[in-house]
Formats: sequence, C-alpha cells, structure tokens
Amino acid sequence: PLSSPWIPGRLKFMPGNLLDTQTASQRSFGIDYDKNYFLKDGKPFRYISGSIHYSRVPRYYWKDRLLKMKMAGLDAIQTYVPWNYHEFKPGLANEIGLLVILRAGPYICAEWDMGGLPAWLLERESIILRSSDLDYLAAVERWMGVLLPKMKPYLYQNGGPVIMVQVENEYGSYFACDYDYLRYLQKLFHHHLGDEVVLFTTDGASKHYLRCGALQGLYATVDFAPAAFLTQRGSEPRGPLVNSEFYTGWLDHWGHPHSVVPTNTIAKTLDEILSRGANVNMYMFIGGTNFAYWNGANMPYASQPTSYDYDAPLSEAGDLTDKYFALREVIGRYNHLPEDPIPPTTPKYAYGRVTMEKLGTVAELLGDLSPSGPIRSIYPLTFVQLQQYFGFVLYRTTFPKNCSEPTPLFSPLNGVHDRAYVSVDGVPQGILERGKSNMINITGKAGANLDMLVENMGRVNYGRYNNDFKGLVSNLSLGQVTLIDWEIYPLDIDSVVGHGLNSKGGESKTSGGNPSRYAAPAFYTGRFSIPSGIPDLPQDTYIKFPGWTKGQIWINGFNLGRYWPVRGPQVTLFVPSNILVSSSPNNITVLELEQSPCGIQKCAIEFVDKPDINATLFPGRAQLFCFWYHLCSFHVRVILLTLRGCF
Ligand SMILES: *[C@@H]1O[C@H](CO)[C@@H](O)[C@H](O)[C@H]1NC(C)=O
Ligand SMILES: *[C@@H]1O[C@H](CO)[C@@H](O)[C@H](O)[C@H]1NC(C)=O
Ligand SMILES: *[C@@H]1O[C@H](CO)[C@@H](O)[C@H](O)[C@H]1NC(C)=O
Ligand SMILES: *[C@@H]1O[C@H](CO)[C@@H](O)[C@H](O)[C@H]1NC(C)=O
Ligand SMILES: *[C@@H]1O[C@H](CO)[C@@H](O)[C@H](O)[C@H]1NC(C)=O
Repeated sequence: PLSSPWIPGRLKFMPGNLLDTQTASQRSFGIDYDKNYFLKDGKPFRYISGSIHYSRVPRYYWKDRLLKMKMAGLDAIQTYVPWNYHEFKPGLANEIGLLVILRAGPYICAEWDMGGLPAWLLERESIILRSSDLDYLAAVERWMGVLLPKMKPYLYQNGGPVIMVQVENEYGSYFACDYDYLRYLQKLFHHHLGDEVVLFTTDGASKHYLRCGALQGLYATVDFAPAAFLTQRGSEPRGPLVNSEFYTGWLDHWGHPHSVVPTNTIAKTLDEILSRGANVNMYMFIGGTNFAYWNGANMPYASQPTSYDYDAPLSEAGDLTDKYFALREVIGRYNHLPEDPIPPTTPKYAYGRVTMEKLGTVAELLGDLSPSGPIRSIYPLTFVQLQQYFGFVLYRTTFPKNCSEPTPLFSPLNGVHDRAYVSVDGVPQGILERGKSNMINITGKAGANLDMLVENMGRVNYGRYNNDFKGLVSNLSLGQVTLIDWEIYPLDIDSVVGHGLNSKGGESKTSGGNPSRYAAPAFYTGRFSIPSGIPDLPQDTYIKFPGWTKGQIWINGFNLGRYWPVRGPQVTLFVPSNILVSSSPNNITVLELEQSPCGIQKCAIEFVDKPDINATLFPGRAQLFCFWYHLCSFHVRVILLTLRGCF
C-alpha cells in the first residue's frame, strides 16, 4: 500500500469562511429516542435528502446540480466518499444551504470500482477486506486519519453542513460479519470526529442483514420501501425512522435492458414514507457518469456502463425530468418549496460528424504506450502485481510449437479478467471474455507473436468477490501446453493520450480467419472546432459511434469512458461542455478494440443533441430481466423485478 496513488495534496476544500462559526456553539444535532425524531438545534427535525456522487458529476456542474436539488425542496444531500478517488469538497453544499449526510466508507458499494476500496489493498493476495485483517485496518486507519480530521470542521455542531456520518455500508450483506471491525470503525470515527457526532449504518431491510450490519451505538437505518420500517424497529425500537436508500430508479449492466422505474410508483411511495414522518434519502437524485474506468461490476461478472443515469429525477446530464417535477410536488406537501427559479436544463448542441483517422495499432504504438517497456515473467502477472490498477495491459508470448491446425487457446480457470483481444503476429484472432468465452481456436508457427491486450472492465463492487484481480489471473493453455515466458507491457494510455499520441503510419493487417469481424485494437484521432457566431457555445453534447464496436474515448485528454454500442443499452456518451474549448480545435482520441468502420471510406463519430442509453438490442427479454445478481441489496431486486412484471 505504500506505493499507493494516494496524494494528499489532491484533496481540495472550500475555505473556512463558509462555516457558520458565530453560531457554532448553539448548533447541535442528535437523536431523540423518546419522541422518535432527530433533534436539530434542540428542535424536532426530519430530513428529505437526495444522493449525488461528486465523483460522477464534473466539478464545473456541482453548483447547478445542487441548486436543482435545493429547488426540489430537499433539506439534505447524501454523498459517498470513494476512498479510491481521493477528492472531496463539502463546502459547496453549505453555501447553498443543504445539509450533508456523509457516507464516509471505507467501503461504499455504489456501482463504483471495487466498491471504493483501492486495488492496491490486494497486494497481499489473501487480505480479507472489510474485516479485522491487520493489513486492511492499517490502511483504513491511515486513510481515515487523513479524511476524518478534514471533515471534522464541517460537522453540523462545528458550523458545517454534515449532520450524520455513515460507518461502512450494508455490512450485514457481507460474509465476514465481524463485529470487532465495526467496533473498531466506531472507535476510529469517534476518535477523529468527537463523541457528539451521529454515526449510522445502513442495511438491507431484513433481520438477517441487520444482524451483522448493526451495532449498539451506531444508529441503524434501512434501505427500501415503507414496510421496511418494521424491520428497522427490530434493531432500533426507538428513534427516527430512516430509509437511507429509497431507489428512484435502478442501475444498468452492459448487455441488459436499460432500467426504468415509473414515476407514479416512486411518487406514491415517497408520499407514503413522508406521511409517516420518516426521514428519507432518494438514491439517486442524480446518478451522473462513470467517467474513465470508474464503473464497478456484479457477479456473475457483468460490468456497469459509463452512464449512471439511474432513471433518477435529474438525468445524467442534470436535466429536469417529469420525475423531478412529480417528486417536487410530493415534497411540496411536506416541505416549504424555495421560491427561487429552478436552474433550467442545460442546452445540448449537435456538433455533427467528425472524421477519424487511424494512428496505428496498439502493437505498432507500443514504444509510446509503454515507456517503461515489458516486464518478463515465466507466468502471467496481475495488474496489481504490475502496480497498474486500471485500463489495459498487453501480454505477449510466442507460440511454443507449430500449430497449423486450429488449436484451442483457453483459460481453464476462467482467468481472463475481463476481456482479452487476441492477435497472432498482428493479425486479430478473436476475444476471450470472463464468464462468457474461455476458448478460441488459433493457428500460428512456432515463434509467432501471440498478443493479448487485456482490458480491466471494472472491479466487482459487491460481496465476497470484491477481491477482484485483473489481467491474466491464471495460466493459459495452447492445446496441451501451458503458455510461459511472457513479456508484459503495462500501458500508460491516459498520460500518453494527454500528451498527444502520434501516428505510426503503415497499413495494419486485418484478420486472417474472419476478416469482417475483428481488427487489431487501434487508436484513431480526429478534431473538431466549436462553431463561431453562435451564442453560449460550447454546450453539452453526446457522442454516437456509427459502425464502431467497443472501446474507450478521450476528448482533449479527458477520459470520457467506455463505449459499446453493439452491446448496449448505452449507445451515446455524455460530453460535459467544460471539457470542450472554443479557442482551438478539440482533439478526439479513440481506442477501438474490435472493429472500426474505417476502411476504404471515411469514418466518423458524431456529436448529437439527444442521449440514447435505452437501446433495445436484446432478445429473450424476460430471461434477462430475471437475472439473479448479487446486487447491493436483495430487496430492491424483488421490488424492481416486480415492477417490471418479472414474476
Ligand atoms: C515448424 O514448421 C516449419 C515448417 O513450416 C519447420 O521448418 C519448423 O522446423 C517447425 N518447427 C517446429 C518447432 O516444429
Ligand atoms: C475449435 O476447433 C475444433 C476442431 O479443431 C472444433 O471442434 C471446435 O468447435 C472449435 N472451437 C471453437 C470455439 O471454434
Ligand atoms: C501457473 O502455473 C504454475 C505452475 O503450475 C504455477 O506455479 C503458477 O502459480 C501459475 N500461475 C498463475 C498466474 O496461475
Ligand atoms: C490538440 O492537440 C494539439 C497537437 O497535439 C495540441 O497542440 C493542442 O493543444 C491540443 N488541443 C487541446 C484543446 O488540448
Ligand atoms: C426506454 O424505452 C422504453 C421502451 O421503449 C420506454 O418505455 C422508456 O420510456 C424509455 N426510457 C427512457 C429513459 O428513454
């Protein structure tokens, strides 16, 4: 962990003058166990809150999104601190007058890579995450020793907006059930934040979850529907009713239909919750975007797309939706709605088609992409062993013998995490994919180069499969032979793209066996200028990928995330205006992993003014809906699947 990418300097905070210091001495926040409500400054208090993850919304738009939440009548926002993201800015909410319910981790789930835990924790392979494992606790103690003291001035009683702090997250759904660990966190949080702070836990609404997730002294709250409050009462016979995650929508996975939860159902349930005087947090109020490589995954392995729209009241791009106005109306029955105007939906602009040109294949550009050169190893090494935690690594070896007949290249232990793009002497052969395809037939002469570009598609964010190693995590065989003597190239793609990747020229080979399906993974580039003479440009936009298959895209060095229109349901990617420039052309870089439309004719990507995250590309609809994943909670599946008429 000492080689971790943790850079304390990157934490940015608002200046202290946002704190309400004069009145700090009169400010208090606590729980009245006799009367079953929270006490704020000594008076009964109930909060109506919404989730926003600051790591999923460009900093440029934080204020716009928070104002929209304020105008919906919310008292508070709830946010996670993704330990592996390392950036936090709580002052802004105070300026706008929203309270903050802080979910400080260390584990957050959240459909976020490894549930927010840093991958470097896996350097000791046998580490038991989220338990009293000594290496794990040492890392937690170090991180919380940085984070929590910075949060302390922002506690409500100290003049800041933070009324409550969550310890861990849905711990009752985790196998470890380690009370010593929860007690340790409780002590650590009190040590840094003081004894007055209201600490809480959140768990799925069943006795089973609360058994391992709740601890005396940590206020136990639940996720879900109104009936779930009965379960909360099992753990907290007195005190305010709290639903910490009332789901306004639901998450997506690549290859599954986009989740939609009807507005009237959500509005009706919210009304029921509020009419009981309960506290509620709407998860999500705005979902946002999994930029770069930040998405997580569930088991059996299925990763989440770039959009985290969530069918929430504010769209991925912060747009006001029918759901927003419906929930605002419900909230208006209980809270005074602010009279200021609601910030409008930001305009979107269709910049049109941009012609793309090929720069070269990953193999051709290897010298630039892997400045450190290869690491040699008899057996394959994982990303963590290479100390490269995200993105792509190229694994190269040679054919140990002549394979003139199609010979199976396969991963007996399903150890390709998560997708490998296979080429022989630069000619693409096919793809191995975790949990889906463990074997392809290849041919080649003894000594031919066998390249496998391995993509980390996002670490499992939930459950016992959190220890999610990436790369080739077990040996591969070619026919009867175990492949050895690897040259492993860590790829520093993001910084190379940031500095400008140059063309290597030369025509690449196309697939021998199946020319139409695959091309070797390659980089493409294009530029476009913001039109002049039109007011208020640049504006937000969406990118469409006509004829492209799967890959990663950057604009001006900003990693927008993964695209995979052939698998869906997400077809366009959100581009926030703050990454675009008007003063000079904007640079686009695409890494296409499978097949681009760039052949003899010109090929392009296209900027459009409407999102498409709802493509219906899938047969066997009912079967896919009923996919029985280990999601962050059990009950939501029941509710949502019922809503969709699954049973
Ligand atoms: C592979 O086949 C070539 C002929 O195509 C032959 O010259 C070579 O000796 C063979 N190598 C091995 C290791 O069998
Ligand atoms: C691989 O080739 C063998 C015959 O050599 C064939 O039986 C098998 O179906 C092929 N597998 C794939 C995945 O193409
Ligand atoms: C590959 O196999 C060798 C020999 O059996 C073993 O020592 C090694 O741990 C294996 N490597 C991986 C990554 O599974
Ligand atoms: C685009 O790339 C060119 C050439 O590398 C560079 O000079 C320019 O600064 C880049 N533009 C932006 C907006 O990053
Ligand atoms: C997604 O598609 C379904 C079916 O066509 C439609 O009912 C739903 O409104 C769409 N949702 C969004 C967010 O576009």
